[in-house]
Amino acid sequence: MNRPIGVIDSGVGGLTVARELMRQLPKERLIYLGDTVRCPYGPRPKEEVITFTQQMIDFLLKKDIKLLVIACNTATAFTLDLLKETLDIPVLGVIQPGARAAIKVTETKDIGVIGTVGTIESEAYPEALHNISEDLTVHGLSCPQFVPLVESGRFSDEASEDIVRHALEPLKAYKQLDTLILGCTHYPILHEPIQKIMGDKVHIISSGEETAREVSAILSYQGLHNESHERVNHEFYTTGSKEVFKQIANRWMDQPIKHIEQVVIDE
Ligand code: SIN
Repeated sequence: MNRPIGVIDSGVGGLTVARELMRQLPKERLIYLGDTVRCPYGPRPKEEVITFTQQMIDFLLKKDIKLLVIACNTATAFTLDLLKETLDIPVLGVIQPGARAAIKVTETKDIGVIGTVGTIESEAYPEALHNISEDLTVHGLSCPQFVPLVESGRFSDEASEDIVRHALEPLKAYKQLDTLILGCTHYPILHEPIQKIMGDKVHIISSGEETAREVSAILSYQGLHNESHERVNHEFYTTGSKEVFKQIANRWMDQPIKHIEQVVIDE
């Protein structure tokens, strides 16, 4: 029960999910791994994403995790079904929770999804949404410029706002659209410019909150909640620069991240 929860992402984007897990489940210990050195996963072929994701999982399994969160939409789209069959711990991705959160708030049933090329081309979101309700119109749009923007720490200057405005332009044509899913865990870091450009009437959905709720439900159902009263020490690992990771993490997270280590996972 007192084993940690593993969280993986291609880089810093999964921190948006880790933050929610830390808020909603403060007694749970997290071990986070971001494959920053090989980020982005979005434009990579499916087979490569599967190999990289498996390498991240192998690293975390050695740390005896009790549950795995794939906090990367591209990796979720390409590997979740496979991992559900092969792992003997509970595993969840971020696509189902994001779809559910969007369906809860849409009134017009006209939903936009932005994500990486891999996620949008996989059609994983329209499939997840239509599995819940067929009566929906879904507009997908890939925004390959956003992940490099976030990973470089440039998410609040004027130039980045211009890039976001230009990328989201095609969605402005859909006048009925009232909900936009951020189908990449890096994008919540760009929430402010995205909301500004889409306007106040559009609900912006990030899957972090709903994913954390689902993790909590699985822990309760399987009797896996941490019951110790000891202080929780989270561990963060990156395959890239520790300094860049730390800077972004400390700007984004609610509490300073103490343990950050650079690791090699592809040997
Ligand atoms: C990426 O690595 O391209 C983005 C991660 C994601 O899809 O959430």
